[in-house]
Amino acid sequence: MTFNHESTTDEVLDGLDLSGRRFVITGAASGLGEESTRALAAHGASIVMLARDPAKNDEAAARVRAAVPDADLSLDTVDLADLASIRSFAGRYLDGGQSIDVLINNAGVMACPFGHTADGFEMQFGTNHLGHFELTRLLEPAVVAGDRPRIVNLTSSAHGISDVDLEDPNFEHTDYDAWISYGRSKSANALHALALSRRLAGDGVLAYSVHPGVIMTNLGRHLNDDLMQQMMDRSKERAAKTGQPEGFQFKSAEQGAATQVWAATSADVVEHSGTYCADCGLGVEGGNVGGNGFEPYITDASRADELWALSERLLDS
Ligand SMILES: NC(=O)c1ccc[n+]([C@@H]2O[C@H](COP(=O)([O-])OP(=O)(O)OC[C@H]3O[C@@H](n4cnc5c(N)ncnc54)[C@H](OP(=O)(O)O)[C@@H]3O)[C@@H](O)[C@H]2O)c1
Repeated sequence: MTFNHESTTDEVLDGLDLSGRRFVITGAASGLGEESTRALAAHGASIVMLARDPAKNDEAAARVRAAVPDADLSLDTVDLADLASIRSFAGRYLDGGQSIDVLINNAGVMACPFGHTADGFEMQFGTNHLGHFELTRLLEPAVVAGDRPRIVNLTSSAHGISDVDLEDPNFEHTDYDAWISYGRSKSANALHALALSRRLAGDGVLAYSVHPGVIMTNLGRHLNDDLMQQMMDRSKERAAKTGQPEGFQFKSAEQGAATQVWAATSADVVEHSGTYCADCGLGVEGGNVGGNGFEPYITDASRADELWALSERLLDS
């Protein structure tokens, strides 16, 4: 079945019965995480909604239940900017003995002011990449025990702003730039998915990275006039350099969340583990990064291994 940039969550899930399948979704209390929860629950999936703020999670679950009265939801709290919180959740989850069929690493923070996680990592790298890396590493036994398991990492077309920086991941020696930091963290999300696809292939686990499109969500909470201007300037520069179209084509939340639920459920991606997905399809290397194209550096397996080793070093020290 072929879908496109306008396809919605309900369209890509049409006809699927997900009862008996258990999804764990980070950042489930707003935006794309909440819409993915609603859509998957409407098709019978059991969802573990993870959020850092239990009150927000309760409110989001109430909205999902208003739309899907028999939604099978359980809620838990994880702050991805705090390793103690991640480790405590993972311990609770593993003690419960439940497997995971699909882990969707969806939470994210974008272009925030310079800051640090509880463990001293730069906030965007620490939350978007290291937090999800640690969560995934700890939950791996539950994922491996899942039925036809998959891991989906939310990346972004913003990976095109910058490759990862393995020498100075926390901006200790480089001036902080909020967009470069976001771009690096989203390249890291894609390289993490690539590394997972290779490392867990023997255990039958499939992994993907997903660019959802551009959707008005709470993600833009840190965008001031200056950062907006920088975003427009980057888009103009890229258009002039590549001849690709300038500007952004906005999607609704239902269209934005469609690619992650597609990557999480579609039979069409089974042979393409490790791939960057966008617009409910496989991404195109060298294509328009503002659409479904991606930069070749996120397909570099040795770079993915180096990022893996660096992440382990940082998390284990
Ligand atoms: N919207 C877009 O245009 C777009 C484009 C490309 C990629 N993406 C990616 O899509 C994903 C979902 O974003 P969204 O658009 O749905 O934005 P959103 O509504 O802001 O959702 C992001 C979620 O992540 C959570 N989060 C942030 N920091 C966290 C932390 N330390 N611990 C736990 N949860 C945390 C937020 O919780 P709080 O509310 O508590 O902060 C929020 O629920 C992100 O990974 C983003 O990078 C979005």
